[in-house]
Order: sequence, then C-alpha cells, then structure tokens
Amino acid sequence: MDPARGKKLDVGLIGFDRSHLPPLGSGLFDPRTLFANPSHALEIEIGSGKGTFLVQQAACQPETNFLGIEWTAEFWRFAADRVRRRELSNVRLLHTDATELFRFWLPDEIARVVHLYFSDPWPKTRHHKRRVIQDETLRHFHRVLAPGGELRIVTDHVDLWKWDQEHVARHDQFFEIRPFVPPASAGSGEVVGTNFERKFAREGRPFMAMTLAKRERSDRPASSL
Ligand SMILES: C[S@@+](CC[C@H](N)C(=O)[O-])C[C@H]1O[C@@H](n2cnc3c(N)ncnc32)[C@H](O)[C@@H]1O
Repeated sequence: MDPARGKKLDVGLIGFDRSHLPPLGSGLFDPRTLFANPSHALEIEIGSGKGTFLVQQAACQPETNFLGIEWTAEFWRFAADRVRRRELSNVRLLHTDATELFRFWLPDEIARVVHLYFSDPWPKTRHHKRRVIQDETLRHFHRVLAPGGELRIVTDHVDLWKWDQEHVARHDQFFEIRPFVPPASAGSGEVVGTNFERKFAREGRPFMAMTLAKRERSDRPASSL
C-alpha cells in the first residue's frame, strides 16, 4: 500500500506521532496545543485516509482547528504532506489509534465535532471488536465533545450502519439523532465528499448518514434520568 506511489513525503510541522503523547497512565494529552491558535474551536476526524475531507473543509473553515487521526502510517504521511503543501495552518495529523486516544488521553469537552466517515466495517464477527463505534467509545465521544457538540457518521456498509444504530440506541441518554447536513466542502450530490465516498459513488453504492448531537444532563430523555 503506497498512496504516494514512490514519491518522497514530508510531514513537516503537520504530522505528529505517538511520541508526542505522554506515557500511558501518566497524564492527558490536549491536542489543542499542537495548533498555532489553540483557542480556536477543534474538530476531530477519525480515520482521515488520504486527508481529502481535511484539506477541503479546513480551507472553508480557517478559524477552526482540524485534527485528523490515522493509524496507517502511509496514509498519515500522505495526508500530512498534502496539508503541508497546501499551507493549511489549521490542520494537524496524528498517527495513532483514535479509540485509544479517546479512551486514555483526551480531556473532557475539547471538541466541537467528531467526524467518522467510511470507517472500516470489519465484517467478520470475530473482528467486530475493532469497529470504532463501541459502547465505551460512545461514552468517550460524549465526554470529549464540548456542550452542543456533534458526532457525524457516514457509511456505505449496511451491517456497520445497523451496528452503529444499535449502539446509539443503547446510549440515547448521550445523544440525540439528527439528520446529517453535508459540510460546505461537499460537492453537488455528495454527502461529505471523501475519497471513499467518491470511489463508492462510482460503484453506485447507497450511503447512510447521521448526526448525533450531544445531550446535556438537563435534556436527557425521562427514561434515563
Ligand atoms: C475506509 S478508510 C476511509 C478513509 C476516509 N475517511 C475516506 O472516507 O476516504 C478508513 C480509514 O480509517 C483508518 N482507521 C481505522 N480505524 C482507525 C482507528 N482506530 N484509528 C485511526 N485510524 C483508523 C484506516 O487506516 C483507514 O485509513
């Protein structure tokens, strides 16, 4: 797997790896410190792939910081190099497992949006534990999102969609389901406009999408109070 096709890549000041995280158990890591303007609102993308969503949307929202998390080194390097060449100062790429980052390192209420687009479906039952959406990760997404924050999900995979819906239904005290509104950078007829969406659209696959709005204690359904 070589998205760069042999071209030399440079992550510059955009790409960070696990060495920037404190040792496990010895403290939290606040990714806002990676940005030139740490006070700007933060949005996090899990599984950025080649970085298409980040470069498109960060250009539309220069006052927002975007952190992409990507665990495949080749894609992390490719996306960081792409951001560096476009001189987008509001994007950083972290090479690590996003589920571990949320579980062990991220502080409470730091992100306005978490984006999860075309997450790996892990179709075999024995691999379902590797899916990003789990009971525990939903709890951490809720914790890390700022008040009024959102988790945005798009997938083409029917079984993964069912899995996501079942998990969200079990945690309706955390999130209210709302329609998915395409970001400003999406092209005409696109849901979000990532690489995988464009590939799957050519194959005629249908897409499923939802926005999960963080509930606060006061607006939880009566059943969960
Ligand atoms: C199917 S690709 C989609 C890429 C991109 N979002 C898109 O729509 O074009 C899923 C990406 O998520 C990454 N990924 C999967 N699980 C991850 C995790 N737990 N932490 C970080 N990256 C992850 C994979 O390496 C892969 O690049």
